[in-house]
Amino acid sequence: MLGTDLAKRFQKEYGAESVIAADRAMLDITDWQSVGRLMREREPGLVVNSAAYTNVDGAEKERELAYNINVMGVANLVEWCEEFGIKLVHFSTDQVFDGKGKLPRTEGETPRPSNYYAETKFLGEQEAARMESSLILRVQWLYGKKKDRFTPLKDKEVFTPFADQYGAPMWTETIADAVVDLLQKGAAGLFHLTHDDYASWADVFAFAKEELGLKVRLEPKRTEEMKLPANRPLFSVLSNEKLCRALGREKFGGWRPALSKFLKA
Ligand SMILES: NC(=O)c1ccc[n+]([C@@H]2O[C@H](COP(=O)([O-])OP(=O)(O)OC[C@H]3O[C@@H](n4cnc5c(N)ncnc54)[C@H](OP(=O)(O)O)[C@@H]3O)[C@@H](O)[C@H]2O)c1
Repeated sequence: MLGTDLAKRFQKEYGAESVIAADRAMLDITDWQSVGRLMREREPGLVVNSAAYTNVDGAEKERELAYNINVMGVANLVEWCEEFGIKLVHFSTDQVFDGKGKLPRTEGETPRPSNYYAETKFLGEQEAARMESSLILRVQWLYGKKKDRFTPLKDKEVFTPFADQYGAPMWTETIADAVVDLLQKGAAGLFHLTHDDYASWADVFAFAKEELGLKVRLEPKRTEEMKLPANRPLFSVLSNEKLCRALGREKFGGWRPALSKFLKA
């Protein structure tokens, strides 16, 4: 989902011929030799990694696979990026925090992952951070054309959003714009790439329902009631102060205008 919009945004900025949009068929990041071969052949000036094992519940069972992709895959990219002196952009998740606080988390706080997916993502961050030049972006609650969480609601009578998980949904196009901006400003290090405000998933779906004029009945439930295999952080709100400073902006913007624009598009 994110990779598709990143590729489009980079193509728009730097020209289609400048972007190698590698999917899994073209490059398996867990294959150390293939990563080296592609880098040697194509000599990229920048590597942006949006590949990951992203099935939060699946990771509880498929531990080895999740570890290989989210940790060893990143280690492979880092090793070859170091060899060729290439900057790496890497994505992580709000879920590295346990969601137990009541204040937005900053980049300086120590993560405490509460599910296996988050554990692997935290280890992956640490791999990426072995290069000082890396840009590591913690993102959350993504939506985009490849994963429209909202429009399919028009075919549903009832939908059950989480009532007690708090965060901010973010359009993959918003992320892609911010990545280009951060790179052009020479940013490196760890950033929380998120909106200024937050809400529960129930609030987010209520907003989308209103915007789309849907009939679906929303029946919010507590996470505990859903009996999911993986634990979910509840107050998963990230501070974007460091991000705004790097971008030279007073505010980044709220999630509502972005979601409204997406739904209209
Ligand atoms: N989605 C969210 O709400 C969310 C929230 C927080 C953080 N993130 C992070 O944001 C990033 C992008 O997420 P996303 O939602 O765009 O994920 P996604 O839609 O699940 O895409 C992940 C991509 O990685 C590919 N992939 C998996 N294993 C690979 C391998 N060994 N080599 C090469 N490619 C491989 C997958 O290919 P296949 O389809 O062939 O498996 C898929 O195309 C990830 O780092 C994720 O952890 C996402």
